[in-house]
Amino acid sequence: MFQRAQDDQYFQVIMERVRTLYLTWCEQFLDLIEEHVDLSDGPLILNDLGCQVGQFAKSLVRRNLPLTYRGYDIEPQYLEAARELFPDLEFRPLDLHEETPDPAHITVISATLEHLPNLERGLVHLLSSTRQTALIRTFLADSAALSWYSKEDAEEAYRIHQFRFADFEEICTGQGFKVTWIEDRYTGSRPKDLGQGVTRTQHIALAERRT
Ligand SMILES: C[S@@+](CC[C@H](N)C(=O)[O-])C[C@H]1O[C@@H](n2cnc3c(N)ncnc32)[C@H](O)[C@@H]1O
Repeated sequence: MFQRAQDDQYFQVIMERVRTLYLTWCEQFLDLIEEHVDLSDGPLILNDLGCQVGQFAKSLVRRNLPLTYRGYDIEPQYLEAARELFPDLEFRPLDLHEETPDPAHITVISATLEHLPNLERGLVHLLSSTRQTALIRTFLADSAALSWYSKEDAEEAYRIHQFRFADFEEICTGQGFKVTWIEDRYTGSRPKDLGQGVTRTQHIALAERRT
């Protein structure tokens, strides 16, 4: 479970954030959905993978779009907090590395794929459950890399992958999707030092089903 690799302070920070802030990536994803998806046939179903405590759900509720929300996460502690904060929305347990979510027209995922053991398994589960459009925010570069990050008070370390653009695009193409790369508004898609010698760059893939 993800919280085993975090400390108590992390949980406090994400709870404070969901109570007080609208995050930039959530607002950017909603702008992209309004720009690239025809919502007039709604309500469409949206899967939020790695939903944590419901930060994207919070922005979606404010935007009031005709979308039926389903949040998925591996961590029971986050799902419980999300259900308390947003009792009208649906939150479900899921290990994206092992399972395929129920089908949705739109999938959103941020800062989650890079923690899975293997990109292809998670990405195929994600894409095969997406009927129309996926917005995927993760660490990409011209070469792949894997680092382990250890927090002092955590029970275990967690992995932080960096994926190769070409590998990522090949999986998407193989699943029948066209990819458009989009700059991440929050980081400007500039390299960021995460500490412990790990530097990563956030990008957004807009993956649209062709077939
Ligand atoms: C760094 S947080 C990102 C949260 C949120 N999407 C954001 O960008 O603000 C990563 C989330 O992915 C979840 N997660 C990690 N591995 C997962 C897996 N195999 N299946 C589903 N969720 C997973 C974690 O529990 C955590 O909520």
